[in-house]
Amino acid sequence: MGRTLESVIFIVFLSCAFSEITVQKEAQAEALLRWKNRLKSHSLTSWSLTSWSLTNVTGKSPCNWTGIHQCNEVNDIIKINLANSGLDGTLDQLDFSVFPNLTSLSFCFNNLVGSIPSQLGMLSRLVFLDMGSNNFTSTIPVQLGNLLELQVLRLSNNSLNGQIPYQLSNLQKAWNFNLAGNYLLNPDHIRFKGMKSLTFLWLNYNYLDTEVPPFIFQYPKLIFLDLSENIITGPLPVQLATSLKNLEFLNLTSNSFEGEIPVEITHLSKLQHMRLGLNKLNGTIPYEVGLLSNLQILELNDNLFNGPIPSSIGKLKMLQTLNFQNSGLNSSIPYELGFCTNLTFLNLSINNLSGPLPKSMASLSQLVDFGISSNKLSGEVQAYFLSNWTNLNSLQLQHNNFSGAIPPEIGMLQKITYLYLFDNQLLGSLPPEIGNLSNLIDLDLSNNLITRSIPSSLGNLTTVVSINFYNNQLSGTLPPEVGNMQSITSLDYTRRFWPQCSTEC
Ligand SMILES: *[C@@H]1O[C@H](CO)[C@@H](O)[C@H](O)[C@H]1NC(C)=O
Ligand SMILES: *[C@@H]1O[C@H](CO)[C@@H](O)[C@H](O)[C@H]1NC(C)=O
Ligand SMILES: *[C@@H]1O[C@H](CO)[C@@H](O)[C@H](O)[C@H]1NC(C)=O
Ligand SMILES: *[C@@H]1O[C@H](CO)[C@@H](O)[C@H](O)[C@H]1NC(C)=O
Ligand SMILES: *[C@@H]1O[C@H](CO)[C@@H](O)[C@H](O)[C@H]1NC(C)=O
Ligand SMILES: *[C@@H]1O[C@H](CO)[C@@H](O)[C@H](O)[C@H]1NC(C)=O
Ligand SMILES: *[C@@H]1O[C@H](CO)[C@@H](O)[C@H](O)[C@H]1NC(C)=O
Ligand SMILES: *[C@@H]1O[C@H](CO)[C@@H](O)[C@H](O)[C@H]1NC(C)=O
Ligand SMILES: *[C@@H]1O[C@H](CO)[C@@H](O)[C@H](O)[C@H]1NC(C)=O
Ligand SMILES: *[C@@H]1O[C@H](CO)[C@@H](O)[C@H](O)[C@H]1NC(C)=O
Ligand SMILES: *[C@@H]1O[C@H](CO)[C@@H](O)[C@H](O)[C@H]1NC(C)=O
Ligand SMILES: *[C@@H]1O[C@H](CO)[C@@H](O)[C@H](O)[C@H]1NC(C)=O
Repeated sequence: MGRTLESVIFIVFLSCAFSEITVQKEAQAEALLRWKNRLKSHSLTSWSLTSWSLTNVTGKSPCNWTGIHQCNEVNDIIKINLANSGLDGTLDQLDFSVFPNLTSLSFCFNNLVGSIPSQLGMLSRLVFLDMGSNNFTSTIPVQLGNLLELQVLRLSNNSLNGQIPYQLSNLQKAWNFNLAGNYLLNPDHIRFKGMKSLTFLWLNYNYLDTEVPPFIFQYPKLIFLDLSENIITGPLPVQLATSLKNLEFLNLTSNSFEGEIPVEITHLSKLQHMRLGLNKLNGTIPYEVGLLSNLQILELNDNLFNGPIPSSIGKLKMLQTLNFQNSGLNSSIPYELGFCTNLTFLNLSINNLSGPLPKSMASLSQLVDFGISSNKLSGEVQAYFLSNWTNLNSLQLQHNNFSGAIPPEIGMLQKITYLYLFDNQLLGSLPPEIGNLSNLIDLDLSNNLITRSIPSSLGNLTTVVSINFYNNQLSGTLPPEVGNMQSITSLDYTRRFWPQCSTEC
């Protein structure tokens, strides 16, 4: 029964298939097969293209081959998607001239090498082209500038070099342009035109130098701009703020920008992510930063600022990530910081901050990662902080002047994995509640003034890998329960008897 049905379908299928085969279609199938046979199939983990065969009857029309995602009404291939197919080889043997109707082509996430064929410039109907995450070398063919219908161009994560061809700015319908992760140099600034549709632009991880390419100011629709990890120098251009009013995501991390943040930054009122870390920005952080009320991520870390954390930060109610580490700040922590109750990541480490943690910070109950190490902060780590910071995964208060006892509320940090309180002046006994921290991996309380005995509840810390109590004033012996700590590889509870002696002892 099944067999009869199968052969009926088979005959029907054959006659359809044959009547539809046109010379063009054969040319397309043959072009694909010729190319397939040049690929290094031995290196494929699973040979993805087994369906590509003229002897396979059901596979006879290339429209049904793996990766051929769509044919038009005359069975002419219009979409090829061979993303992540383990392809190893070049595109040199693939004759693109037989696919004039192609609208979509993806070869991303393979191991293709050699150059990007200039022949692609003939595919005048192409709307989508993704050659990302291969290892294409040499320059970007200028012919890609002929693809006037192109909306999405992704060449990211290859080894392309040379100038970005100015001809690419002919692509006036393109809204998504990703050339990140190559060795590309600045295009000819004069001949590179504005692009009126461009919305997303990734040029990060290349060799762009000198200034922010001025053509970027002629992209009125730009929402996303990533120029991180280049070698761009000079001041942050005021034009960036005044001409890109739709910008929501700005990433200039890890370049060599210098000078002050212009107050015109307030023009970027839609900005959600502002990442300016790892540059050479100086002056004070302008109060106006606090007027960007849609900010969710603010990274100014690793710059050369001085002066205060602006109190206007407290207006950023949507803020989730605030990174000011190592940026030359020398104020106290503004009370207003406690108004940013959506914060999950806060890093103020390696600055010259002084004074106590303001009480308002107890409201930061969403915090997951909090680092404020290597400052001159003082005062007590109050119980009302700990009882509210129950989402903390990492708490880093080391290298400060915190004093007073560790409150028993420390036991409420149920999710904590890294707890660093070392190099402070904490005193009193270690509360037994420390044994409640059932996710703890690393506990460092060294170089404090903690006294009395180690609580036996320490033995409950079955996930802990490292504990450091070095140079405190603990007395007594280790409780036998420490033998229950199954994961521990390092436990230092030695006292330093001679305060003057160097680290060798
Ligand atoms: C023939 O092509 C069909 C359809 O693509 C495929 O499912 C099948 O695995 C192929 N058979 C062989 C023997 O390659
Ligand atoms: C492609 O396969 C589908 C079923 O998967 C079938 O209905 C269709 O007729 C096939 N087309 C060609 C041209 O082989
Ligand atoms: C391209 O598609 C059109 C229909 O959209 C068709 O008439 C034409 O023959 C196709 N060209 C080729 C070379 O297959
Ligand atoms: C870059 O491409 C390589 C090779 O295809 C791939 O393994 C890697 O995951 C890609 N990286 C990114 C960030 O896409
Ligand atoms: C990419 O190709 C270049 C030149 O052949 C080679 O030096 C480099 O190691 C390759 N990179 C990867 C990630 O395979
Ligand atoms: C730059 O920042 C944007 C916006 O936050 C982000 O999506 C992108 O991944 C970042 N780029 C890199 C290279 O991390
Ligand atoms: C900030 O940097 C600019 C450019 O490097 C320099 O001219 C200026 O003197 C610096 N300002 C301060 C306050 O250091
Ligand atoms: C911070 O540094 C600036 C510039 O060096 C200085 O004028 C100011 O007095 C300092 N503020 C504090 C609180 O130390
Ligand atoms: C926190 O962010 C959400 C959106 O993610 C927003 O709806 C909420 O108002 C913010 N919280 C505060 C206190 O503004
Ligand atoms: C603890 O957090 C809650 C919710 O954010 C807040 O209402 C409360 O005032 C905080 N407690 C203290 C002592 O600030
Ligand atoms: C904050 O920055 C410091 C210095 O780079 C780093 O060591 C620490 O891990 C960061 N803290 C958190 C909580 O991410
Ligand atoms: C923790 O340790 C104490 C003392 O060793 C013990 O009495 C207690 O039952 C332990 N608690 C848990 C939850 O294991």
